[in-house]
Amino acid sequence: VVPVLTVDGPGGAGKGTISRLVAERLGWHLLDSGALYRLTALAAAKHEVPLDDEAGLAEVARELDVVFRAEGDATTVLLEGRDATTTIRTEQIGDAASQVAALPAVRQALLKRQRDFRQAPGLVADGRDMGTVVFTDAPLKIFLTASAEERARRRHLQLQEAGVDANLSSLLKEIQARDARDMQRSVAPLKPADDAITLDTTRLTIPEVVDRLTELLTE
Ligand code: C5P
Repeated sequence: VVPVLTVDGPGGAGKGTISRLVAERLGWHLLDSGALYRLTALAAAKHEVPLDDEAGLAEVARELDVVFRAEGDATTVLLEGRDATTTIRTEQIGDAASQVAALPAVRQALLKRQRDFRQAPGLVADGRDMGTVVFTDAPLKIFLTASAEERARRRHLQLQEAGVDANLSSLLKEIQARDARDMQRSVAPLKPADDAITLDTTRLTIPEVVDRLTELLTE
């Protein structure tokens, strides 16, 4: 069977960056499952499907026409043939994504699509329920955390680098609200798998975390 490394945790813990770097180092495929929820939210807005229409949103998720195109160390995301790489990264889409992600029919609709990413020689799967639902048999499951303050600070820095004005304290509030929604929802709530290793990255650098994960994989 093809090995999977699952990397779950709250937003801003560094999952995206860490998962990409580990996948690059190993030459493995990468699944950014959050992008699928973000794309579902964006496609729903495009097709004017309201955020409380569960069946309609599940249909949008099932029909999602998306291509992930790797270009060097960046990935371009195409939705219905159009570049959606930066559009899906806004706070507004992130918020809508977390709302559609709370709907069981939407999660069900995205299940097979996520599992199809499991291809040789291996997969790094980044998300909230990679270890608890999607790849329960993964040989290594990591739960990445960091304090909410640190995660807000990182998000702030990221936005500044992208030239986006943002307010640190409102970012912190948004992160806390998103955490609460992700942890309290009844389907696939955000929590470490029973067999996951929890890594707090608050005081770790990105290379330190990448090294730690590659070490764990070869142990
Ligand atoms: O990780 P990212 O911020 O892109 O995820 C956006 C939203 O999608 C999260 O807030 C979460 O609600 C949802 N999500 C999820 N399950 C995943 C990945 C993301 O519910 N595996």
